[in-house]
Amino acid sequence: MPRLEMRAKHPLAIRWCHWINFPLLAVMIWSGLWIYWANDVYRIGVGSHTLFKFFPEGFYTALGLKGHLAEGMAWHFFFMWFFALNGFVYVFYTILSGEWRYLVPNRHSFREAILVALGDLHLYKGRLPARKFNGAQQIAYTSIILMGCGSLLTGLAIYKPTQFAWLAKVLGGYQAARFEHFWLTIGYVAFFAIHIAQVVRAGWNNFRAMVGGYELVEESSRE
Ligand code: HEM
Repeated sequence: MPRLEMRAKHPLAIRWCHWINFPLLAVMIWSGLWIYWANDVYRIGVGSHTLFKFFPEGFYTALGLKGHLAEGMAWHFFFMWFFALNGFVYVFYTILSGEWRYLVPNRHSFREAILVALGDLHLYKGRLPARKFNGAQQIAYTSIILMGCGSLLTGLAIYKPTQFAWLAKVLGGYQAARFEHFWLTIGYVAFFAIHIAQVVRAGWNNFRAMVGGYELVEESSRE
């Protein structure tokens, strides 16, 4: 039977930021929905034909989202500071500790991400590199951090469109900034669904490392 040993995987600061981000993002999305309900303009459609409206009436009714505009704004503009602060701490720690080296994609990441996707679909049977993060993870995690920056910038532009008129202009104007802010949120929901599916698929050892910091590995597999 192979001997197992504990190997450090995720530093404490990264785990704290990761788990603090989860409820913060949930509050930001929930309060964002309270605000969005008051002027729900977006849809997916062709010309004047609407395929899907964000969101159908039943969605607001079922989740009790109606009539909370002022409350939504209060929560959103309070918790955004914590969302931003936690994001800054995570980014600075990742840069200063050198953890960015595992996270930021390199010139092999895109090809590797395709192999990972093919592997997930059982269309590729080869071995993937046994690193902390493979190409698909590097691209996904770096993208979500950039999306966080995008949410802050687009959010600032629509929060204070007079003071940050220059920012709104850079982002394509107030309406464009609002549109970008909304679609970034849809992006988080899509990321979250895939992230959770991958975490479940990767198993307990991987999840435990994001909680306790250590994973169990076979002694021989130590790099
Ligand atoms: C219940 C919710 C969540 C669970 C169970 C979870 C679980 C995990 C686990 C197990 C890892 C390590 C994955 C690996 O080794 O590849 C991870 C990493 C990561 N997750 Fe989550 N996650 C959750 C929510 C989120 C959310 C909401 C975001 C951001 C929107 C997020 C962003 C990230 C990022 C950026 C990493 C890489 C962190 C690093 O090492 O620098 N996660 N997550």
